[in-house]
Amino acid sequence: MRDYLLIYVNGRRYKISGKRGFQSLSDFLRYDLGMVGTKVVCAEGDCGSCTVLIGRVRNSQLLYEGIDSCIQYLYQLDCSHVITVEGLKDEAQIIHPVQKAMVDAAGSQCGYCTPGFVMALAAMLETGETLTRHSVQDGLTGNLCRCTGYEQIIDAGLSLNQKVIPKASKCYDAKAILADFMEHVVQPVYCEYEKKWNGAGQQVQFFVPAYLEEALEFKQKNKHVTVVAGGTDISVQMNKERLEPNCIMSLTHLTGLEILEIENKTVTVGAKVTWTELGEFCQEHLPELDEIISIFASRQIKNAATLAGNIANASPIADSLPFLHVIDAEMELTASHGTRWVNINRFYHGYKNTEMKPDELITRIRWNLPEPETVLKLYKVSKRKDLDISTFTAGILLRLKKGKIQNARLAFGGVGPVVLRLPKTEEFLQGKPMLPGIFHEAGKLARDEISPISDVRASSDYRLQLAENILLKFFHECSDNQNKKEAA
Ligand SMILES: Cc1cc2nc3c(=O)[nH]c(=O)nc-3n(C[C@H](O)[C@H](O)[C@H](O)COP(=O)(O)OP(=O)(O)OC[C@H]3O[C@@H](n4cnc5c(N)ncnc54)[C@H](O)[C@@H]3O)c2cc1C
Ligand code: FES
Ligand code: FES
Repeated sequence: MRDYLLIYVNGRRYKISGKRGFQSLSDFLRYDLGMVGTKVVCAEGDCGSCTVLIGRVRNSQLLYEGIDSCIQYLYQLDCSHVITVEGLKDEAQIIHPVQKAMVDAAGSQCGYCTPGFVMALAAMLETGETLTRHSVQDGLTGNLCRCTGYEQIIDAGLSLNQKVIPKASKCYDAKAILADFMEHVVQPVYCEYEKKWNGAGQQVQFFVPAYLEEALEFKQKNKHVTVVAGGTDISVQMNKERLEPNCIMSLTHLTGLEILEIENKTVTVGAKVTWTELGEFCQEHLPELDEIISIFASRQIKNAATLAGNIANASPIADSLPFLHVIDAEMELTASHGTRWVNINRFYHGYKNTEMKPDELITRIRWNLPEPETVLKLYKVSKRKDLDISTFTAGILLRLKKGKIQNARLAFGGVGPVVLRLPKTEEFLQGKPMLPGIFHEAGKLARDEISPISDVRASSDYRLQLAENILLKFFHECSDNQNKKEAA
């Protein structure tokens, strides 16, 4: 057991123990290391000014991705190599080509957001993707600038020549860093310190298990431990809602939870699979879910956040849930005494109240791919297209035979304390033909099955209208697709 975290920053090795391991990466960089190039504006993953590159061990290699350092805590980053804007260099050790591109395109005014944009562009060079206007815009979704205007910044991105510019990570001795990590990654880490609280001492601890068995044993002994996967929900609560967990467990080293496979048409997703990984997988196997993932958060968030975290966080507007409900997904809940599979349709008992027992972890999620005769559509309504929380979500899956609906599954989010299935509307649709009047009537029924509240995102009336209209939208989209098929 180690009592320190091992983190490299710009090629330099740091051993971090005790209280220091409990801080966010952005605080560590700025206050402990004096690397103030990494800026903090929102501290909740929305603006990207704190973007850095993180190199993590994946399949015995270091994989570098852009993440928001304000919502990554150090206990999530054991055996990671952080590259900050200060660590960008080219062989001649002068201004990095990405920085030069920003200068040449006049991509900076006050400059506060600029290191974040530079690092987001550097992250795109790491992935080796072709830089088109679309991909640059997508890669910069998680970065906000209040004064320059985005055109110049996009121009800077488009001017980068990937064939000539070396990846930022290539300027470091990846082999030596990886060898160091491979030696340490198999050791669990435990750190603690005594926090002063109202004059009394309080023990605060974190644990980074190396193996699932250790994680389950720790959870068995510490039932109120705060589990951290990507941290994109929990760290925002820590930064903004003053959540101060005394006992934390990071899943970062549990390699058994990285599974992402399809076998006999069953998809299995491990609890550590990030939204980025799932998105790449869905491009080929599940384009409907890929569409939702393309408007989920930003790259920096998707590189850290997990599907399991989205489920366990139990928000009624979590974007994965309508899909998981209509596809009849199951979660594997694992405790030290055994494993059980629970259907998502029976997982939520009420607002933030789930079937998961205190000693259990979600370890895998699985579902069967939609059959060829089914139509699946997923919807997300939000105030803006990118990087926004949903106002309303929906999943609709119909099985059709000879123009008639054999079976219907509907799940709506943002209309109650949990994502709701609509049994009466589903029953009404069964056996009916695909006609506009049917979906018009189904919309009226759907409206009666939900009881949304008014909140900052939308009024109850607006959500009721959405619930009604989405069924007609679904019908028209299906008809359009059918017409296109027939025309082809
Ligand atoms: C800027 C921003 C934008 C966002 N945009 C979206 C969006 O568009 N759509 C959307 O749905 N969400 C969005 N989110 C919310 C968040 O990113 C997702 O819910 C994400 O999937 C959470 O995953 P995570 O791994 O980061 O969870 P974490 O924060 O690590 O954990 C979330 C909760 O799940 C628990 N948990 C995690 N893993 C497990 C496990 N294996 N077993 C048991 N419990 C576990 C944790 O204890 C915690 O209670 C956004 C968040 C931010 C900060
Ligand atoms: S400071 Fe805004 S995303 Fe981190
Ligand atoms: S240059 Fe001022 S915020 Fe972007």
